[in-house]
Amino acid sequence: MAMSVSDLGNVVVFNHPLIQHKLTYLRDKTTSHRPFRGLLYQIAGLMVYEATRTLPVNPVEVDTPVEKTIGARLGAKVTVVPVLRAGLGMAEGVLEMMPEARVGHLGLARDEITLEPIVYLQRLPRDIDAGPVILVDPMLATGGSAAQAIRLLRQAGATDLRMLCLVAAPEGIRRLAREDPGLTIYAAAVDRQLNERGYIVPGLGDAGDRLYGTV
Ligand code: PRP
Ligand code: URA
Repeated sequence: MAMSVSDLGNVVVFNHPLIQHKLTYLRDKTTSHRPFRGLLYQIAGLMVYEATRTLPVNPVEVDTPVEKTIGARLGAKVTVVPVLRAGLGMAEGVLEMMPEARVGHLGLARDEITLEPIVYLQRLPRDIDAGPVILVDPMLATGGSAAQAIRLLRQAGATDLRMLCLVAAPEGIRRLAREDPGLTIYAAAVDRQLNERGYIVPGLGDAGDRLYGTV
């Protein structure tokens, strides 16, 4: 289902048919915000299955209707951190699979001229260091927003940190590998490059606008 592309950095790419099928609809410019929202939600749910494979679990005793047995429960508090706005669409899908996770919010907007991120909101659990943190944002372009989000999360105490994105550009992956070598990136696709406006090519356009119909 997933493969590593080690020459770019610590990235795991999902080559699963269901994910690629749904991603192709997301790329299609005729897909409107309503199906876009549903597809993003579904892909995030599929991706989190693989991205959480290494979460710690504790053995617990459980009484089935037949006899006692030993099961497993998640052993740490997981925090999902969407980068607003577009990350919200992925976070919903992740939470469907992991409803017990806490949610921290980071509001970042990329300045369309400088391409630098502006931080407008930060609401994180105080004990974010109590377990794994999953940063979610569908687009990893220059990597400026993700690098800023990761700095804020590390400052807040996040140690076990992974990032879930939909489409990543090689430029963004390389930047994160340089700035935070301990981070694993899970991506549905690694696209060719950025264009002169910092958009991912072929990409899917502006994820936030397409998700919320503000195109
Ligand atoms: C998009 C996207 C990322 C960022 C990626 O958000 O969701 O956060 O751009 O670009 P970068 O890697 O070059 O920083 P945007 O700032 O457009 O905000 P929005 O989600 O509110 O539309
Ligand atoms: N942000 C987006 O939403 N899309 C891109 O292609 C690049 C940054």
